Amino acid sequence: MKVGIVGAGMVGSSAGYAIALMGIASSVIFVDRNADLARAQAEDISHAVPFMSSCMVYAGDYGDLKGASVVILAAGVSQKPGETRLQLLGRNAAVFREVVAEVLRVAPNAILLIASNPVDIMTQITVRLSGLPASRVIGSGTILDTARFRSLLGRHLQISPQSVHAYVLGEHGDSEVLAWSNARAGSEPLLSIAAQMGLPLTDDVKAEIDDGVRNAAYKIINGKGATYYGIGAGLARIVKSIAQDQQDVLSVSIVTEHVAGVDDVALSIPRVVGAGGVSADLMPTLDDAEKEALHRSAALLKTAIEAVEI
Ligand code: LAC
Repeated sequence: MKVGIVGAGMVGSSAGYAIALMGIASSVIFVDRNADLARAQAEDISHAVPFMSSCMVYAGDYGDLKGASVVILAAGVSQKPGETRLQLLGRNAAVFREVVAEVLRVAPNAILLIASNPVDIMTQITVRLSGLPASRVIGSGTILDTARFRSLLGRHLQISPQSVHAYVLGEHGDSEVLAWSNARAGSEPLLSIAAQMGLPLTDDVKAEIDDGVRNAAYKIINGKGATYYGIGAGLARIVKSIAQDQQDVLSVSIVTEHVAGVDDVALSIPRVVGAGGVSADLMPTLDDAEKEALHRSAALLKTAIEAVEI
């Protein structure tokens, strides 16, 4: 499978690095306005490949994306310290007007995987610009937040995060919803497991985990200027499910006709992802507080996209 990555900055290159080392694509092509950066990222990653896989990694121009099955759109600016993701909208929407047209010219059958923030809005903008079906324009959404949630729950419960089944829903941003009520470890409700293990999920513990998920990016950006390894691996995880037609259940963002009482909005709920993109939505059972929080998140995203002129 050929994977294109438009935007060879830290997010795009981290995704390319993970995809190359995981061996889930036969080739990865970087495209960036800064051709020197694209070439340098491709060359550096290609030196890591012999240790792990046989993926061909190179830089090129839009023409080299011809035949790509997946194109990751990671172009644009990222958050500065204290900046919200929604504040990036104007700058990144302008970048996408050019990028989407160029990609579709050479790879009209590709699945577009959106990484640029605000990712839910950028996903909906890409559907409008491309005219592609919603199922083939996938935003990374809350796949990273879900990983953060599982990681912190696993750390508290001393269980592998891969055995924790918990989701973050809604906006990839400040209004996201941690779905505590249906979180499981193994096949048991999390609260029951925690009590059995003598590691109760008290209100204080839950508040600490909520802060650790919801504000992770702000803290990391304050420390090192940007986040990229987590999102890079999350993008690679989505590419793996597409490349291997795995039908994995992943919390990704696509334009959804009706969700949480709002029509035509892109946000994340658990969805089935395979070779053709998203094939099914799996709306989880939520308690009343979570339903209300998801409605607020959806309504906030709806207001934001309605303000965008495409
Ligand atoms: C983060 C960026 C990818 O949450 O939005 O780290």
